[in-house]
Amino acid sequence: MTGHCVLDLEDLSVGCGRAMDPVLVEGVSLRVHAGECLGLVGESGSGKSLTLRSLLGLLPATLHQRTGQLRFSDVDGALHAREPRTLRGDGVSMVFQEPMSSLNPTMRVGDLVAAGARVRGLSAKEAARRAVDLLGEVGVPEPRQRMRAWPHELSGGLRQRVMIAMALSVEPRLLLCDEPTTALDVTIQDQILSLIERLQRDRGLAVVFVSHNLAVISRIADRTAVMYAGRIVEQGPTQELVTHPRHPYTRALIDSMPRAHVAQVRLSAIPGSPPTAGQLAPGCRFAPRCSMADDACAAVDPPLAAVHEGHDSACLHHSLLVKGTVG
Ligand SMILES: Nc1ncnc2c1ncn2[C@@H]1O[C@H](COP(=O)(O)OP(=O)(O)OP(=O)(O)O)[C@@H](O)[C@H]1O
Ligand code: SF4
Ligand SMILES: [Mg+2]
Repeated sequence: MTGHCVLDLEDLSVGCGRAMDPVLVEGVSLRVHAGECLGLVGESGSGKSLTLRSLLGLLPATLHQRTGQLRFSDVDGALHAREPRTLRGDGVSMVFQEPMSSLNPTMRVGDLVAAGARVRGLSAKEAARRAVDLLGEVGVPEPRQRMRAWPHELSGGLRQRVMIAMALSVEPRLLLCDEPTTALDVTIQDQILSLIERLQRDRGLAVVFVSHNLAVISRIADRTAVMYAGRIVEQGPTQELVTHPRHPYTRALIDSMPRAHVAQVRLSAIPGSPPTAGQLAPGCRFAPRCSMADDACAAVDPPLAAVHEGHDSACLHHSLLVKGTVG
């Protein structure tokens, strides 16, 4: 069950320098609700991480962002306009792909997790108690003993659990996850996905989950936005999107997914590569790789538009995909 809207982002663009040239993320709008997981999927370089980092004002100094509107809910569920950097540690937390580079190696696990609780005004003793509880909640065995461990003494899976406990220590309403399972082996990846699902359900957390892997996204996300070359080209309920894609790029991502029940000899990779930033040809940005492209596609880069309520596509010919649905 999903609740009130937690994040409402409209028309985010990111580019190099004040001139925003080239544009790296263009006109991205996202909404995510309490207890809901929004998946953000696309090939490497499509702008997923820049989108997440923009939400917290964490872009490199050379990049610039423009946001049409950013609203975030208060604890009572009412939406208010906010500046991106003010969300950091105040309602929003982020979990990164590589925990080792994000965990301070000179701090013990207990101090890392307690730091967030201290920021919220707890005494050192209360924060340490809270850290033990959080480590237990994210499935770290023997949390009391682990408080004194150093990050390098933990396995990759445990480090990622510690990272999630740190993220939870500021009691966020929105958790941003940037490829949090990509560096882990499949079994541990599955455990971390289950943990995030449980936190989402038990805490009513809103989650934005970034991955280049549509199989991971289709497991965890209630709704999915597909990014291509800096723009969202399709978004909708995940199940509907993966069974009835309405953009050729989404369909290509699905065709390149490994399927457990099909003894596939060869996965079909998406032919060609995404355009380089700043070198977009006129017309639809997917056209050079699209088997359905025609003259009309060379004239406009189609805006994201509703195919029906709750499902949008940026393809001129999305209706042609209905017959060729994926079973
Ligand atoms: N500091 C920067 N300066 C210039 N261009 C950048 C910078 N950071 C990222 N980019 C470019 O912006 C685009 C989007 O990058 P981003 O990191 O958001 O991609 P991504 O979708 O997260 O990819 P990945 O799956 O590889 O993590 C890429 O083309 C990247 O080369
Ligand atoms: S608008 Fe044309 S080129 Fe673009 S995705 Fe649709 S069919 Fe392909
Ligand atoms: Mg990234």
